[in-house]
Amino acid sequence: MEMTSAKFVATRAGSVPALDIRGVRKEFETFCALRHIDLTVYQGEMLCFLGPSGCGKTTLLRIIAGLEKQTAGTILQLGRDISALPPARRDYGIVFQSYALFPNLTIADNVAYGLVNRRTSRAEIAQRVQELLDLVGLPTSGRKYPSQLSGGQQQRVALARALATRPGLLLLDEPLSALDALERVRLRGEIRRLQQQVGVTTIMVTHDQEEALSMADRIVVMNHGVIEQVGTPLDVYERPATPFVADFVGRVNVLAGTALGGRRFRVGTLELTCEAAAASSSPARSQPLSSSRRPSHRPVQRRYAQPADGRHRKGRVPG
Ligand SMILES: Nc1ncnc2c1ncn2[C@@H]1O[C@H](COP(=O)(O)OP(=O)(O)OP(=O)(O)O)[C@@H](O)[C@H]1O
Ligand SMILES: [Mg+2]
Repeated sequence: MEMTSAKFVATRAGSVPALDIRGVRKEFETFCALRHIDLTVYQGEMLCFLGPSGCGKTTLLRIIAGLEKQTAGTILQLGRDISALPPARRDYGIVFQSYALFPNLTIADNVAYGLVNRRTSRAEIAQRVQELLDLVGLPTSGRKYPSQLSGGQQQRVALARALATRPGLLLLDEPLSALDALERVRLRGEIRRLQQQVGVTTIMVTHDQEEALSMADRIVVMNHGVIEQVGTPLDVYERPATPFVADFVGRVNVLAGTALGGRRFRVGTLELTCEAAAASSSPARSQPLSSSRRPSHRPVQRRYAQPADGRHRKGRVPG
């Protein structure tokens, strides 16, 4: 996809808060979907909400969009309290999993939809629509109808439509999950390039770990209505804050054992040393523990275990 328009000025992800979510809670009658969400999203960054089905990702996104009302808590966008504003008075573009284009409108009219009531002249609208279609790699599709495009192409149009008004925030709810595997991987890269080129602060919901790890500046790992960890892909992969994150983000081998003091622990008949563990965080002697190892990690140790028969055997933990 060619995306070289000089009209889109890239900005680097910085440290200016674009969105501040404070103490957000959501109850659906007796069910609590979000417990207490505190989160700052920085300008220009791409943030992924990652977690299993039902953990509250879409609910949080819909609350940010004003499509759902939070039970408690506030949301500030660039310092302005938007907690009680209706969707039309908030500054965002949104793309859903299903393409949600108007089937009876041409691609150009779909992209122009948000612009027509903004006192923009026809010529300006036409120019902007063409810029956006160029941006998403569909420069000649303006006169077609949605049914004449593939799923991936329709999602590119949905992206163009979401960006038409130059929103301060782009919200994406599983935008790739209806696509086939090849198209999904292709569009991952395209969305990321486009997001960086336009410099728009973006929140993308996904339950696909690989998608989040490959696209996000930071990942918000959620489970049962709470945030388990916020960090860079490397942080959540290499330094998971909780056993849930270790298990959910990437593959992991978990060794259950008993602490022997220092960095040593015992798994079955093997005595192991965990080189990566900080001495200061060593568990107390005899305490049950588990050690999470990524398949790509080096073995835990090369020490010798002393089994009951007294003969030394080399104890090696599979990566
Ligand atoms: N309108 C509603 N009424 C009652 N319960 C709801 C409503 N919307 C969502 N929920 C519940 O809130 C929880 C969180 O839902 P949500 O759609 O946010 O999950 P999700 O993380 O986006 O999951 P998925 O990956 O399946 O899309 C779920 O248990 C869901 O059943
Ligand atoms: Mg969802």
